[in-house]
Amino acid sequence: MFGKFSRRQFGKFAGLSALGAATAANAAQGEPAPAVDRHAPASFPKDFLWGTATSAYQIEGAVNEDGRGRSIWDTFAHTPGTIADHTTADRANDHYHRYKEDVGLIKALGVKAYRFSIAWPRIFPDGTGAPNPKGLDFYNRLIDELLAKGIEPYATLYHWDLPQALEDRVGGWRSSDTSKAFADYAGYVAERVSDRVKNIFTLNEAGRFLNFGYGWGIDAPGLKLPTGELNQARHHVALGHGLAVQAIRAHARPGTKVGPAENIAACVPVFDTPENVRAAEMATRELNAGLLGVMLEGKYADGFLAYSGKDAPKFTPEELKIIGAKNDFVGLNIYAPQFYIAASDQKPGWKVLPFPASFPHMNSEWLRVGPEVIYWAPRLAAKIWNLDTIYISENGTSSEDKIAADGQVYDLDRIMFLRNYLRQLQRATAEGVPVRGYFLWSLMDNFEWIFGFEKRFGLYHVDFETQKRTAKLSAAFYREVVVRNAIGA
Ligand code: NOJ
Repeated sequence: MFGKFSRRQFGKFAGLSALGAATAANAAQGEPAPAVDRHAPASFPKDFLWGTATSAYQIEGAVNEDGRGRSIWDTFAHTPGTIADHTTADRANDHYHRYKEDVGLIKALGVKAYRFSIAWPRIFPDGTGAPNPKGLDFYNRLIDELLAKGIEPYATLYHWDLPQALEDRVGGWRSSDTSKAFADYAGYVAERVSDRVKNIFTLNEAGRFLNFGYGWGIDAPGLKLPTGELNQARHHVALGHGLAVQAIRAHARPGTKVGPAENIAACVPVFDTPENVRAAEMATRELNAGLLGVMLEGKYADGFLAYSGKDAPKFTPEELKIIGAKNDFVGLNIYAPQFYIAASDQKPGWKVLPFPASFPHMNSEWLRVGPEVIYWAPRLAAKIWNLDTIYISENGTSSEDKIAADGQVYDLDRIMFLRNYLRQLQRATAEGVPVRGYFLWSLMDNFEWIFGFEKRFGLYHVDFETQKRTAKLSAAFYREVVVRNAIGA
């Protein structure tokens, strides 16, 4: 195409096109002018909740302050060879001391909600037993500051920072003692914050921390359990969720809402035919049977049990009843399409298609770009489990953000990513998929687990030497979406 035009001609054409001249030219040639204004923004439902998200270990720092106990992530990050850039989150964003400034950053985005996590080892340094009142004091200060600024707090109780004492004493999630300890902690916190915190997420991304931490040994606590033991740990995590829901219902103010925040195994029909959609629906149910499935159905799908065979988890009917306790909402963390699915003549009626090596990804290699996943995952989940309230509890991307000479951060790839994903989310809400809110990951750059500080997911750039926060261009983009409650073309 470029061959046909001189540079000057091309520039002129591009300029005219931007002014709408190409459309006029089309009309002059007898083509109908477009019926709709292509730049008209696509609106979200009236009460759609816009938010942003972080987690305790990734931002707080102050790991030895005010009686906080050690977590498995302190131990893991201090183990040589675990974190790509050899860092730990001992200081991270120093949010523990700078939370007021950070709440100001949230406010500046115009969002109405903030999802943060509470560090269990700040509340119960030994996992169980004597609480540490100073730990809760910090979250009380944070919650009060959020409310004073008109921001609704959404608290997550477990974002991977298990008290090390529980790992040492009972083997962490390998034991149902941890499930019970989690419920005690959940009830304790809920009783004390539910006068102000109306929405509580139990566990964040159980699928990830189990597979990475207990299966492959690349997240804390760094274990490589055989499949049977991994499935049993998964069952204890699901049980922990169910017991925590019970404890919250028993101790929190009436009306407190609770649910998980899960990285659903996200399936996308390879293209939209009724057969592929049906196949993706079956795949979603079966590939999520070990966590979301049992939480939302109160039973393990037959296919899952048959497939697991001798490695299937051991459970009692009573435990299944607890795990299947009704949730008020389901949080889905959605980043990349994990599985493209096609219909198949062979059992089980669907197949996972291989990714070509050339499939595009963002700055994090695992973050394949597939905006349609944020349409399909909630749509299929709502259909399978008959859900009426879904939150996108996380979505966002890392980008190789640099401060330019003029002091700005031009994170155009993040804006591209968000624009496309939000467009697909809008499509879902417009079709009646019950997504009620969206929490952008993340408010600011932070400790990205095994990647340390190398991968930046924030709307605000953080200089980890000086702790200076700088709004990226995507912060202005997101603010625009929030203010308009709509996504432009
Ligand atoms: C999911 C996790 O919940 C969060 O902690 C992490 O930083 C983001 N994904 C990005 O990888």
